[in-house]
Amino acid sequence: MPFDSLLSPVTIGNLQLPNRVVMAPLTRNRASQPGDVPSEMNAHYYAQRASAGLIVSEATQVSRQGQGYFATPGIYSDAQESGWKSVVGAVHARHGRIASQLWHVGRVSHRSLQEDGASPVAPSAVRARNTQVFVKCEDGSYAMTDADEPRALEADELPGIVLQFVDAAQRAKRAGFDMIEVHAANGYLLHQFMATGTNRRTDDYGGGIENRVRLVVDVLEAVAGVMGAHRVGIRISPNFTEFDLQDDEGEASSLYLAQELKRIGVAYLHLAEGDWAGGAPLSEGYRRALREAYDGAIIVCGEYTAEEADARIERGEANAVAFGRAYIANPDLVERFSAGAPLNTPDEATFYGGGEKGYTDYPALDDARPD
Ligand SMILES: Cc1cc2nc3c(=O)[nH]c(=O)nc-3n(C[C@H](O)[C@H](O)[C@H](O)COP(=O)(O)O)c2cc1C
Repeated sequence: MPFDSLLSPVTIGNLQLPNRVVMAPLTRNRASQPGDVPSEMNAHYYAQRASAGLIVSEATQVSRQGQGYFATPGIYSDAQESGWKSVVGAVHARHGRIASQLWHVGRVSHRSLQEDGASPVAPSAVRARNTQVFVKCEDGSYAMTDADEPRALEADELPGIVLQFVDAAQRAKRAGFDMIEVHAANGYLLHQFMATGTNRRTDDYGGGIENRVRLVVDVLEAVAGVMGAHRVGIRISPNFTEFDLQDDEGEASSLYLAQELKRIGVAYLHLAEGDWAGGAPLSEGYRRALREAYDGAIIVCGEYTAEEADARIERGEANAVAFGRAYIANPDLVERFSAGAPLNTPDEATFYGGGEKGYTDYPALDDARPD
């Protein structure tokens, strides 16, 4: 069989996956309006991809405050919870497994998305320069616009941030999600706390590595209290540089975090690598250090081909590999890898926003077969 390692089963936490092909979290800005509620169309899209070893949902805001783009789904209202329940049900009906990626964007937002036009929040009042967010204009059209200046969160607001994740985790659990992935990557709130450029706090949540990582650890412990640590993963991107994110200690703080993940018993660590984000590639030395510091499953992601993914798993450097753009265009990616079949090409023009086009209409191999 081609790709023996990639297509072999694996257990992550206590969840058994039939293969190691993970669908990466992919924001598609197609939640129904008003209310940012997952719809039947979204359920159909995820169900089409149910043969993945594990689906990680698109980033899902834990609160209105945590939203940075128009039409991304939330998981803080009853309607959203019920929408996700349909999504999860559709994936389970096709024998799939799905994690909810819980997200707070922090400073990567705009007042028009916030309650009463409030300023977005961040560890410190440091604006993300050259950073655009996706908003809906008064005339109903969409536009990219500059992220607003954030205000610094007060120390006594931080337990409230943790609570947003806890409430969201409770809803995700009720909706039937198999796992939760805490989004601490890609320059959003939790990453902003970890990074030296965005965190200028002088309290227990700023300064040295242990302090900067503290909020992430608080969130993980609290979410693990809801789901069980064996059903919780985390996504990080230590070399990420988009959204004006500067971090002089990205690798060092993630190695410290890895020890904390081990202590808490977090099921997996999902590494979004530098390539897609534009950062430097991760060094082999760093990968080894991470592997030594953390004993759970490691999922890697970023411009992998099936060949590269298979080799990385075979060498013991990762337990599974996530595919992003390939999953946009290939609902049956696992079957295509098994058959050595060619892949459809994703259409970037339909990545963000819109309807079925470029979303649920990519053909599966089966579609091409005569009845
Ligand atoms: C359209 C699009 C949306 C994305 N949305 C998310 C997201 O919601 N959460 C996240 O952690 N990463 C997100 N990413 C990053 C992907 O998960 C992945 O890391 C990246 O695409 C690199 O993998 P690939 O080369 O296999 O596409 C997104 C990427 C794309 C192209």
